[in-house]
Amino acid sequence: MERTLVLCKPDAVQRGLIGRIIARLEAKGLKVVAMKMLRVAPALARQHYQAHVEKPFYAQLEAFITSSPVVAMVLEADGAVEIVRRLMGPTNSLQAPPGTLRGDHGISLTMNLVHGSDSVESAQREISLFFAEDELHDYTLSTEAWV
Ligand code: RTP
Ligand code: MG
Repeated sequence: MERTLVLCKPDAVQRGLIGRIIARLEAKGLKVVAMKMLRVAPALARQHYQAHVEKPFYAQLEAFITSSPVVAMVLEADGAVEIVRRLMGPTNSLQAPPGTLRGDHGISLTMNLVHGSDSVESAQREISLFFAEDELHDYTLSTEAWV
């Protein structure tokens, strides 16, 4: 089964939006297989945003993602990566359509509330950065047959 890493970013935590974000993802039918709150250290930020470290906006991105705790989750479903990306909406919250998490709750490019892995390969890499193997829970949801 496909898995993806989701982060409720520092702005979501500070604005009291983590419950709404998790509720939307849960209601869609994604299964939560891991979840925790943590403070992202600069070293983890560099690993997580490896592809962006050399970009001009990286300093701002690192300052933001390390500024307050985040809530990290691993979600599972057939096509979990794309499902989450579609629910999040485009990177720039200002351009994200209504109905998406970013479109409904944000107006910023940097502070865009939520992270979702952009491919299955990225998801595997990112999940191993945030979670140990024994933090990923293998269990059956009673609702699985109905989703
Ligand atoms: P994320 O990785 O956080 O889920 O976001 P994303 O895939 O939609 O966007 P990505 O291109 O991976 O960019 C990572 C984060 O960097 C910030 N950003 N700032 N100032 C800029 O031009 C700029 N571009 C991107 C955003 O916070 C974005 O989520
Ligand atoms: Mg990305």
